[in-house]
Amino acid sequence: MNTAPLAFMDSGVGGLTILKPAFAQLPQENTLFFGDEAHLPYGEKQPQQVIDYSLQIGRFFAQKQAKMMIIACNTASALALSTLKKALPFPVLGVVEAGSRSALRASSQQKIGVIATRATVNSHAYRSTIQKLAPQAEVVEVACPTFIPLVEQGDYRSERVRQLVAEGLEPLRGSGIDTLVLGCTHFPIIRDLIQNEIGSKVTLVDPGAETVSQAQRILQQQDLLAGPQDPDHTFYTSKDPERFQKVGEQWLNRKVDVQLVTPDQL
Ligand code: SIN
Repeated sequence: MNTAPLAFMDSGVGGLTILKPAFAQLPQENTLFFGDEAHLPYGEKQPQQVIDYSLQIGRFFAQKQAKMMIIACNTASALALSTLKKALPFPVLGVVEAGSRSALRASSQQKIGVIATRATVNSHAYRSTIQKLAPQAEVVEVACPTFIPLVEQGDYRSERVRQLVAEGLEPLRGSGIDTLVLGCTHFPIIRDLIQNEIGSKVTLVDPGAETVSQAQRILQQQDLLAGPQDPDHTFYTSKDPERFQKVGEQWLNRKVDVQLVTPDQL
């Protein structure tokens, strides 16, 4: 039995979407979550900046004696995973590989769309991972940066959001995709809007949920699972803890106590 915490990072509140499946599949685990609101959005930053921010958070988790780190952020997974794997003393998982495998399982035609940040799209991390697993697969990657600020502001029901989602998905119309990867942590929060706009024939894939299943398998194999206990869930943000708490409680439907850790404290 290993009660050290499982540590999750994201650029903001979007990464909380991975905690829902984590709490459901691994209910006995202590968790840490770091939302790097001070540097949001990672998707508009230079690759080296994303690597530096992610590494600082990884080192913070190492100080907290984490047993595994899960990079919920797609942009950080695409750009920083290999650096973090080499630098940190525990297993590190990103969301791109699990999301790619899940998309291939879901797609009967092997025609897969990916919506993500500009940085994730420019890295082509999803396309290269999917095509490494299935060279014949067609992958259409579309950057949808306008969705992120709306989700961060908790605005995911207004007509304005619906319109922005419709405009963002426009490049996928007529593409023939049968599966769409929600390649940004913020997008599962507006999943229903995306499904409505893209149509019910397209299967949506949430890489975060798949990554939790992968984490569970590794914890089992390495005998790192926590035994029966009432777990602790600790939340950190690098900016604006009140807003983080509000969106977090709304999304997770539970009390969320948030501690502020500013970038200079990392
Ligand atoms: C971002 O920080 O730009 C969005 C998070 C993600 O890429 O999943």
